[in-house]
Amino acid sequence: MLSTSGNSRVLSGMRPTGRLHLGHYHGVLKNWAQLQHEYECFFFIADWHALTTGYDDTAGIENNCWEMVIDWLAAGVNPGAATLFIQSQVIEHAELHLLLSMVTPLGWLERVPTFKEQQEKLADKDLQTYGFLGYPLLQSADILIYKAAHVPVGADQVPHVEITREIARRFNHIYGKEPGFEEKAEAAIKKLGKKNAKLYNDLRRRYTQDGDGEALATARALIEDQSGISLGDRERLLGFLEGGGKIILPEPHALLTPVSKMPGLDGQKMSKSYNNTIALREDAKDIETKIKRMPTDPARVRRTDVGNPDNCPVWEFHKIYSPDEVKNWVRQGCTTAGIGCLECKQPVIDAVKAEVGTFCERAKEFEGNRQLVKNIIAEGGERAREVARETMADVREAMQLSYW
Ligand code: TRP
Ligand code: SF4
Repeated sequence: MLSTSGNSRVLSGMRPTGRLHLGHYHGVLKNWAQLQHEYECFFFIADWHALTTGYDDTAGIENNCWEMVIDWLAAGVNPGAATLFIQSQVIEHAELHLLLSMVTPLGWLERVPTFKEQQEKLADKDLQTYGFLGYPLLQSADILIYKAAHVPVGADQVPHVEITREIARRFNHIYGKEPGFEEKAEAAIKKLGKKNAKLYNDLRRRYTQDGDGEALATARALIEDQSGISLGDRERLLGFLEGGGKIILPEPHALLTPVSKMPGLDGQKMSKSYNNTIALREDAKDIETKIKRMPTDPARVRRTDVGNPDNCPVWEFHKIYSPDEVKNWVRQGCTTAGIGCLECKQPVIDAVKAEVGTFCERAKEFEGNRQLVKNIIAEGGERAREVARETMADVREAMQLSYW
């Protein structure tokens, strides 16, 4: 869906975990590579977020960043289409985090589900830190500083987008009421011209008095269509519609990342901690070895035993990689003992090799030239900072911290 009117910015981030695997590709990166053609996308490495749980070991962060960016590029994330950068290179995130921290009730942060969960899960670490508590707020700053409309995240991150919406609402409520807001809004209405001003007032009345949502939508579209009005007036008119003040930080929406169908080599979720991954840039020989060693239907002990694909992790790979005719061949052959497991694995080996081969091919120029990767990230940082600075100017003005 190509959204041309209004705000269609997408933002997402990843902690610098180093090399990624096919689970990341089929879960997240494939989605990013698609979104970059539909929206204005900002994808960043959340290196400060890595510190919130890993502040005691910073040695690997830099290398992890570069390796991860190479994987993004290998997966088809395109710096010509999306803006790629490192969080700590856009210090405005920190400034917004600080300012938002002033209006964030402690209880909101303590109630974020990951707060207690992570503290319990990572019990060997001392996470009684200020940074750890504030981590969802840092994420809010990441999102709001780009005025992002959509935030692709996994289900575990949805509460963080929710708290971001609440923070934005609170911020707008506190600081969106500039002195003389109503008068300025009235003046902005007059600038619409007689006909549109009347239309705006009618629609606003229908919404505020009768709760007519359609009238609200029509009024918004009317404002979006006005080319001759200033950005400030546009925001006033939008804010006034809903009875509130100016909207300085728009509320983002979570864009739920489709659950990756990619299982690990053992049938569990693919994850580094289960040691069941195929890396995004896995060596061809290792792909072969790993898949050949994959467990199959445990009931199929001998070649002559029939099997059931539904109890077999290899079948899960076929579901992702094989066309119908191969899948039919598998079901038929497995359930009649017509094919052996090694035979069955061969099309998977070929398909994974082909996919990973494309990634490795794309990665080659970057692996041989890290400066190239750094240049991409430096350029992305420039672009990101431009947007971040604009938002900070709005924020400072709203908070009356502009001085000159
Ligand atoms: N918290 C996310 C994670 O751990 C990473 C992240 C940081 C993020 N800032 C973000 C994701 C902003 C989306 C938007 O996976
Ligand atoms: Fe699994 Fe294929 Fe062996 Fe059946 S034939 S058990 S689907 S590997």
